[in-house]
Parts: sequence; structure tokens; C-alpha cells
Amino acid sequence: MNILRFADLIAAGRVAGRRVFIRADLNVPQDDSGRITDDTRIRASLPCIRMALDAGAAVMVTSHLGRPTEGEFKPEDTLAPVAARLGELLGGAWAAGVPLVSNWTGGVAVQPGQLVMLENCRLNKGEKKNNEALARQMAALCDVFVHDAFGTAHRAEASTYGIAQHAAVACAGPLLAAEIDALTKALAQPKRPLVAIVAGSKVSTKLTILQSLASKVDGLIVGGGIANTFLLAAGLPIGKSLAEPDLLADARTVIETMKARGAEVPIPTDVVVAREFKADATATVKAVADVAADEMILDIGPQTAARLAEQLKGAGTIVWNGPVGVFEFDAFSHGTEAIARAIAESPGFSIAGGGDTLAAIAKYGIEGDVGYISTGGGAFLEVLEGKTLPAFEILEKRAAG
Ligand code: 3PG
Repeated sequence: MNILRFADLIAAGRVAGRRVFIRADLNVPQDDSGRITDDTRIRASLPCIRMALDAGAAVMVTSHLGRPTEGEFKPEDTLAPVAARLGELLGGAWAAGVPLVSNWTGGVAVQPGQLVMLENCRLNKGEKKNNEALARQMAALCDVFVHDAFGTAHRAEASTYGIAQHAAVACAGPLLAAEIDALTKALAQPKRPLVAIVAGSKVSTKLTILQSLASKVDGLIVGGGIANTFLLAAGLPIGKSLAEPDLLADARTVIETMKARGAEVPIPTDVVVAREFKADATATVKAVADVAADEMILDIGPQTAARLAEQLKGAGTIVWNGPVGVFEFDAFSHGTEAIARAIAESPGFSIAGGGDTLAAIAKYGIEGDVGYISTGGGAFLEVLEGKTLPAFEILEKRAAG
């Protein structure tokens, strides 16, 4: 993808003394008292902010937080806790917190070497609908616009898209660039065989992903409730497992599309079942053809896990979205653990994304062994669906001149 990169601008000496506007994704989870419960996104945004400061820019950083009503400030919408945490992580002059500026669209006082955070950009009227006047106001604040918010790259809002249209220079920050590079490596120019794992409770929420990947991948491993619908489509009994009988035709189409390309959707040969959906339910391993009417499938069985693990170890590229069983319950976590460990051990390039997937990666401590862990939730899924994200589109357009 031909985009301008912030690192290249810095190397060309085009950032020192300039006003740099960074759109980050600092949309972090908070508890009821506003305390940040996971600061991964703030940490992921640090390299861009440090790069801008080290290059001698006057730095503004903003993000959305939640989905506030535009024009109506409520205390829970403030980025204040984020500014405080960012300051702690940066240390030095910012240890006591990065200064937070409200009502900033008309002008921001910031000097080279300084850093300010601009209050929740979704409080500005016109942000969500990419109002042109607002986007132009934002663009006028800076000499260089840096899009570093992969988590928001699927949104075309004033602070993500409009500003990129109108700013003097628009480029990708290091986080966005890393995501683009990893996604390109995994999906556009993959080393084969390319194996995708798409799991989750419902086919309906991931149907477009399954359809899109069916025309690209060499192996499509389905898991969770999605696998149950595929088992049903293959004529196998699934007892009272979660499934979507109205999507059987779609599941069959995915299987046929893969078959026509000489690729496959591996169907489990054994599963772990229970009569109740609870952590201490009795877990029974059985052949997939033997699932009883009062049982539900909560994990893949050891034989299936071993077969899939072998396939993953031989993959050139792996794309992982979703745990293959109810991995939160120990008795039904072995399939997901086997998949996770196989990905970790595979010499192929792997990319993983999605909330549950990240939780599984953390549970098995394989963070260092996955090729790339995406910071995007919805954005990652839209890339898997085969969509061109607005952020990628506008940055390419700007790079083309
Ligand atoms: C996310 O949390 O997935 C991103 O920050 C995007 O948030 P949004 O869905 O509110 O646009």
C-alpha cells in the first residue's frame, strides 16, 4: 500500500518545529469510577507521540472515548484519565499528566517540544458525520496530520477522514503503518499455505468474513457456535448446541467455494460436550457423530485439536480470530489452548485480532510468539471481510497527490 509514513517525514526533516496533530485510538475500557482497566491502547500510541516529540514538533494528540452525544459534555466523556495515564507512561515533564485542552477546534496554543491532549474529539458537533467545516478547522490546526488510530480506521469521521483530506500533509503513524504491513503480509501477499481460524458464537456475525476468506485461504478452521452450524450443514448431530439452522445454505456455500479451489474447511472429528453451560459441568469427549440430543458442544476434542495443530504448524501464514471453545471454562479450554500453542510454535507468520482472541493469547501467555497482534476490533474484522478501510483509502489518495 502506497502511503506516506510519519517515520519517512521525520527522516526527511519535515517535522521539526511543525505543528503535528496525532489522531490516536485511546478508547480504553474504564470501570464505574473512571479508572482505566486496560491501558494497552495508550501504550500502543506511545511510539508515535515520542517520535513526534523527539523530532521537535509541537504535538497535539486526540482520540474519541466511547460514543458521547456531540455537543453535550458529560464528566464520563472526558479524556482526563487518559491524559493522566499517558503522562505517567511518558514520565519526565509529563509525569504529572499531559495538559488537556477543551474547546480546541478554534485554535491550540502549543510550542515545539510541547505535548497537549485535545479533549474527546467525539464531543465536537459534526465529528461522526465528517462535517467538512469541522474537518477543515481541525486541519488548520496542524502542518502534519498523523493517523495512528487503527482501531478507528474503519470510521470516516472528521478527525480520522476529513482532516486527512484537508491537512497540508497527511500520513500514517507507526502503529497504523505496522497494522497495514502486517495485514498486507497476511492477506495480500501471504506465504502459503494460508490458514484462517474464524470462531465465535454466530455465523451471522462473521458470514461476510467467512465468504471473503473462502476465496483466499487454503484452510478455513471454524470454531465455536460457527463450527456447530457447519457440523449441522455436514449432516452431523449437534444436540442442543448453539447453531443457526437458517444459515445452513450459507455454510454449505462456504464449504463448496473452498472445495472448488482445492481448499478445505476441516470438520471436527471429536468434540467435548456437556449437558449444562457452566464451568463445573461434566465434560465428555466423544466422536462427533455421537453427540446426544441433550448435549451441547463446548470445545473441539483432542484428536481434532491435534490434527488442526499439525495443520497450523505447517502453515506459511495464519490469521486468527476467535477461540474455538468456551476457553473461559477450564474443562472446555483445551482446544483453544492447543490452537494457541500451535500458532505460537508455527514458523509461519501469524496475525491475531479481536477481543476474545486477545484474551486467549493473554491466558496462554503467547504474546511474544504471535507475529502481530492487532489493536483493532471492528477495524480488524472489516479488513478480514475484504473491505478497504476509509483510513487506508484516504492516506493512499493523499500519497498519490
Ligand atoms: C473500538 O473500540 O473498537 C474503537 O475505538 C472504535 O470505536 P467505535 O466503535 O465507537 O467507533
